[in-house]
Amino acid sequence: MASERFARWAARTEATLERLLPDPADAPSRLHAAMRHATLGGGKRMRPLLVYAAGTALGAGEQALDAPAAAVELVHAYSLVHDDLPAMDDDDLRRGQPTVHVAFDEATAILAGDALQTLAFSTLAAADAPAALRIDWVRTLADASGVAGMCGGQALDIDATGRAQSLAQLQRMHALKTGALIRAAVRMGALGGGADAATLAQLDAFATSLGLAFQVRDDLLDIEASSEQLGKTAGKDVAQAKSTYPALLGIAGARTKLEELADDMRTALGPLGAGAAALAALGDMAVRRTH
Ligand code: IPE
Ligand code: IPE
Ligand code: MG
Ligand code: MG
Ligand code: MG
Repeated sequence: MASERFARWAARTEATLERLLPDPADAPSRLHAAMRHATLGGGKRMRPLLVYAAGTALGAGEQALDAPAAAVELVHAYSLVHDDLPAMDDDDLRRGQPTVHVAFDEATAILAGDALQTLAFSTLAAADAPAALRIDWVRTLADASGVAGMCGGQALDIDATGRAQSLAQLQRMHALKTGALIRAAVRMGALGGGADAATLAQLDAFATSLGLAFQVRDDLLDIEASSEQLGKTAGKDVAQAKSTYPALLGIAGARTKLEELADDMRTALGPLGAGAAALAALGDMAVRRTH
């Protein structure tokens, strides 16, 4: 059952993060507590699950994937802390709790994000893996997090707020702000499993569709779900005039796009056969998730 594996992989992620994060009893306690608040005990852990699913599909052991799984979640948690800041989306609810700048303060939230990000890279550098693999992991995660990935996408998101975008511009923004880290998760898992170039390319086609689907679904849920269901404030995108798929294509158009992406994911995974079952289940989750 895929769900048993997902529960086990999420528990491994939680345990690795717990071990990596600094002790709030030590100074600077407020920063340490904020990092833990942002990271532990919440979230779907989609990106770590993708690392484990891709890696184990290619024969890697779970333990060999703990470092990249935790590292991508640390970057994701940092991205959420900064995304919620008053200067960005100005959100006060995340994973059913007050956001970090609300529970602590803005300076602490900025520093917690910074420190989570650097912890991700030191985790990869220190992993129990061959040096060449560690370098590939670091490069993959750095490229996906930076100007050609998540940060670049967040900048496009800010530029696009309150403005009309073409479909191509919207797709590029989503591919960078959300898709890049999701592709990195799949690639880091696949690298851990020793994937050859053809398999990496095949999995990247899958991850590219999944990443876009994940954000299109996020855009739809912002309209269709409640804050209680999401653990974050619903209805913010319309209130803030964010550029989204439903804003450009309507709800029906965004749903059609999701179904097309689901087809693309099935096509991309086809040649990988039964070993890709967990990846297929995660693709399905991206399209049908309710929170
Ligand atoms: C939220 O990501 C931000 C987006 C990129 C859409 P998730 O929906 O994965 O958030 P958590 O980790 O489950 O809280
Ligand atoms: C966030 O997109 C993407 C990130 C890089 C964090 P959103 O702004 O739509 O994410 P939520 O809805 O706040 O989780
Ligand atoms: Mg945002
Ligand atoms: Mg946001
Ligand atoms: Mg959103």
